[in-house]
Amino acid sequence: MSFAERSDAVHVRAPGKINIYLGVGARRDDGYHALATVFQAVSLYEDVYASPASDFSLTVSGDVDPSTVPLDDRNLAMRAAKLVAQAAGVTEGVALHLRKSVPVAGGMGGGSADAAAALVACDALWGTELGPHALHDLASRLGADVPFALHGGTAVGTGRGEQLTPALAPGRFDWVLVPSDEGLSTPAIYARLDEQRARVGSLADDPPLSLDVPVAVLQALRAGDPLALAPVMINDLEAAAVAERPELDHILAEGVRAGALTGIVSGSGPTIAFLCAGPEAARAVQDELLAIGREALHVHGAVPGARIMS
Ligand code: C5P
Repeated sequence: MSFAERSDAVHVRAPGKINIYLGVGARRDDGYHALATVFQAVSLYEDVYASPASDFSLTVSGDVDPSTVPLDDRNLAMRAAKLVAQAAGVTEGVALHLRKSVPVAGGMGGGSADAAAALVACDALWGTELGPHALHDLASRLGADVPFALHGGTAVGTGRGEQLTPALAPGRFDWVLVPSDEGLSTPAIYARLDEQRARVGSLADDPPLSLDVPVAVLQALRAGDPLALAPVMINDLEAAAVAERPELDHILAEGVRAGALTGIVSGSGPTIAFLCAGPEAARAVQDELLAIGREALHVHGAVPGARIMS
C-alpha cells in the first residue's frame, strides 16, 4: 500500500518558490546575509504524508536521485517533525513520506517546503494545535525559507528572508522552469558572492548600502503585469551561480531566444525561471526548450502555502 493510500496518513502539500527579486546585503555575524527579497510560490509541489508510528522514520519517492536526499536528522522534514514533538511535549513518533517534485538543491526551496509541510502534518496528526505564530517560529528555526513555504502566495522577505510581508499580486504569472541535473550548494553560492565582493578593486560589487525591494517590482506585481516585471527582476546571487556553473548563461540566453520576457536564476540556483507573457507564450517557450533538449516545466504563481489535502 502506498503512503498516498494509507487512510491514517495526513497529507500536506507545500509549494516550491522562486525569488522574483533577491537583493543580498552584507554577511551578518551569524553567517547569514541580510536580504530584501520577493518570493513567489509556484505550482510545483512537495507532498508530505505523516502516519502514526512509535519511532521517527522517513522515506522518499518522486523524480529524485535517492542518494541526494538524506533520510536522517540532516533532512529538514525529519528535523521539523522532531521540533513539533519537542515543542508540544509529544512522545509518539511519525512515519514521514516525501513525494518530491521540486528539484533537489535547485534554488527553489524544496527542502524548505518539505519542512513546512512536515510541521503542518505533524501538528495535525498529533492534534497539537500549535497555531500560526508558533508554527512560524518553529519554521524560522529550521531555515530562512521555511516560513515562506508555510505562507505561500507572493511576499516580501527581509532579515534572513524569514520576516514576511504579504505582497499584493492578484494576477497570474506564468513561468517556465529549467532545472539542472546537478544541484548547487546554497552556502557555497553565498560564499562565492562574498569572494566576488571582496576582490580588490571591485567596488561596484560591494554590498548595497540600503536594502529595499524596488517600488517598480511591487508596482508590476500589483498590476499583474509581466511586461513591467521582466525588466526589474534582479538576483544578486546570479553572478555567483553563473561563475560556479557557466552553462547557466547559455540556458538564460536560450530561454529568451525561445520567447521568454526574461530569465533569472532562482535563489542560489541552478534552476532558471523564465517569465512569460501568459499561458500560451509559456507553452511555446516550453516546447522550444524541450525541442533543443532542455528539461522545461511550465508552472504558475502565486499559489497557497502548506495546506492539508486530506
Ligand atoms: O536557512 P538555510 O538553511 O536555508 O540557509 C542555508 C545557507 O544559506 C546558510 O547556512 C547560509 O550559508 C546561506 N544563507 C545566507 N543568508 C540568507 C539565507 C541563507 O547566507 N539570508
